[in-house]
Amino acid sequence: MSETNIAPGATFDRPILVTGATGTVGSRLVPRLLAQGEAVRALVRDPESDTAVRLRQAGAELAVGDLATLDAVGLKEIVAGTGAIVHLAAAFRKGETRQESTAVNTDASVALARAALDAGVTRYVFASTNLVYGAGHTAPATEESPLLPLGWPTPYPGSKAAAEQALQQLDGLDLRVVRLAFIYGDGDPHIEQFMTRPIDWHPSRRLQMVHHADVAQGLLLALRAEGVGGEVFNIADDSAVTLAEIYAYMGSEVTPEMREREVTDPWFGIVDNAKARRMLGYRPLYPTMRQALDADAM
Ligand SMILES: NC(=O)c1ccc[n+]([C@@H]2O[C@H](COP(=O)([O-])OP(=O)(O)OC[C@H]3O[C@@H](n4cnc5c(N)ncnc54)[C@H](OP(=O)(O)O)[C@@H]3O)[C@@H](O)[C@H]2O)c1
Repeated sequence: MSETNIAPGATFDRPILVTGATGTVGSRLVPRLLAQGEAVRALVRDPESDTAVRLRQAGAELAVGDLATLDAVGLKEIVAGTGAIVHLAAAFRKGETRQESTAVNTDASVALARAALDAGVTRYVFASTNLVYGAGHTAPATEESPLLPLGWPTPYPGSKAAAEQALQQLDGLDLRVVRLAFIYGDGDPHIEQFMTRPIDWHPSRRLQMVHHADVAQGLLLALRAEGVGGEVFNIADDSAVTLAEIYAYMGSEVTPEMREREVTDPWFGIVDNAKARRMLGYRPLYPTMRQALDADAM
């Protein structure tokens, strides 16, 4: 697939530190950054893992460390000499407790930013989530919409919202917050995993998604843009799909039991990407899941 809407040509004369580089997003973002001509320092916990080895072979420099245990000196060593940070590392897939979520998603994100400032690195892209908007909206959420209460029952969105708020307080940080929708495509089994989760969604409920190519586009645009310090951007595709459509696209049947389910908040997780379009020039390569299917980019 040609990713024509991001102009190649390195912007930074020093490497970009990517945390969470071995994750679902990071492992797909790093090769794209390298293809754009950027140098990458990838933070990994296990340099012998298959993904870490692949990243190194692709041209990334590896830095090794666990954000939950690194102290300020260790963090500064990892950041020193880089030109910017894309902070993707997060704990949210294993039913983490509130304490674990706070430690990695909030406290470590802030500690990393403080270490960056200490090392003279100011540009910091923080990967957040559309789940920070919570429920009760009456239209697609914009970046100005109210966020969920920090005591929200599941700890992950609250830990991201708390991180956003704490990062916004750090003087001198050239912060860009990117709120990502549900990510799919590029061989990511996320949709299949989602369909096997014990969810209670009515088939009419919609899921706002974003393809990995557009996640990379959004992160890169936010990373490179000048004069957008402190700004928040929703990075999502143009049109959410219903659970019924997802089932149909994936060749599965919606069962009669699913049709009996309660119809809940129609705006949960639905976001407006207009600000990213206007300020960053973001244009989804895959405006809908249907287009990713047609392009064989699943
Ligand atoms: N996937 C989505 O649909 C989605 C949607 C909205 C927002 N996001 C956000 O996008 C970012 C990337 O998500 P993802 O799907 O790529 O997540 P992922 O697949 O779960 O990967 C998480 C990454 O973070 C690393 N990590 C976790 N704890 C760490 C620690 N204590 N120290 C250092 N590294 C640590 C993991 O390292 P190991 O490989 O060593 O475990 C892994 O590389 C996250 O911030 C997430 O909140 C994702």
